[in-house]
Amino acid sequence: KCLSQKATTYTKRSCQPSIPRRKGCWPLDLYQYEGFWYGAYTLEGILSTQDHFKPQPNSVILSSAPESGTTWLEALSFSIMTRSHFDESTNPLLNKLSHDLVPFTEFQFLSNSQTLDLNVPLSATHISYTSLPKSILSSSCKIVYICRNPNDVFVSLSHYSQKLESVTKAMEDLHLEDALIYFCEGLYSFGPYWDHVLGYWRASLESPKKILFLKYEDLMNDTVYWVKEMAMFMGYPFSLEEEDKGAVQKIIDLCSFENMSSLEVNKSGIPGIRPKELVVKNNIFFRKGKIGDWKNHLTLEMAMQLDQITKQKSTVLG
Ligand code: A3P
Repeated sequence: KCLSQKATTYTKRSCQPSIPRRKGCWPLDLYQYEGFWYGAYTLEGILSTQDHFKPQPNSVILSSAPESGTTWLEALSFSIMTRSHFDESTNPLLNKLSHDLVPFTEFQFLSNSQTLDLNVPLSATHISYTSLPKSILSSSCKIVYICRNPNDVFVSLSHYSQKLESVTKAMEDLHLEDALIYFCEGLYSFGPYWDHVLGYWRASLESPKKILFLKYEDLMNDTVYWVKEMAMFMGYPFSLEEEDKGAVQKIIDLCSFENMSSLEVNKSGIPGIRPKELVVKNNIFFRKGKIGDWKNHLTLEMAMQLDQITKQKSTVLG
């Protein structure tokens, strides 16, 4: 209750002109907090995460902007960490959505969360680097961040938002061209995308032992290499014997888009841990899982608009 009051106080203050509040597309009412835009319930989750989240010293935090490959990263990381307990025929991923095995810090506090039966030191978050709780930054826990081509993120996000039951009516009449304007301005939950990526990129350069920065495209193109890198970084390296027995490939196959999206739980289930405002079905997290699908959806002008921002922001990266 106390947490809700804090967010409500914040959002009430947001009615004052000095606190930025804008209309967005996902969701409609957005509040700006520490440089990023959020719906009220997401902001509530972030505030409570900042106040209450306590990672274990050996925790690994999986971070990303929405639609960058979080679901895949969770499945791979969970399988890497638990491989001494489960094999490909007993892995809980066969019966549970990865978001239910790797809970989101900001949604866990809000939902009527079912307690997880497994004590795996793994959490996920969409929180920007600037707003990560001090408890994560000051502890010895590690962060794995995944980013993705912004064009594909935009297309994926548009499909995702169209399927959200809570916003479908508002989204129905929204053309892709208009959604792009919102995306470019960062007016959706956890936007702007480029600033999200840049925050973690800079931090990964400063603290490479704390933050592993991954790209969806790299992970897709050389999965074996990056899965081994992830395992090493997280403190669960594959032994030569495991490699000889094909342990890396078994995890990759288990977590592949084709396998994950064909599992009954991911076709027809609903997430256990989710804020009530975000009503979804598990299949919303599995669409195509391809690099470059934006080419099937964006006009040349739209792609150029996105490229221009990416180029501008890339000059910051050097
Ligand atoms: P598309 O909409 O382009 O298909 P997130 O998990 O961060 O919400 O990202 C969702 C995107 O990751 C979606 O992209 C989804 O299809 C894709 N995805 C989900 N599971 C995947 C997997 N196992 N391998 C590759 N991509 C996956």
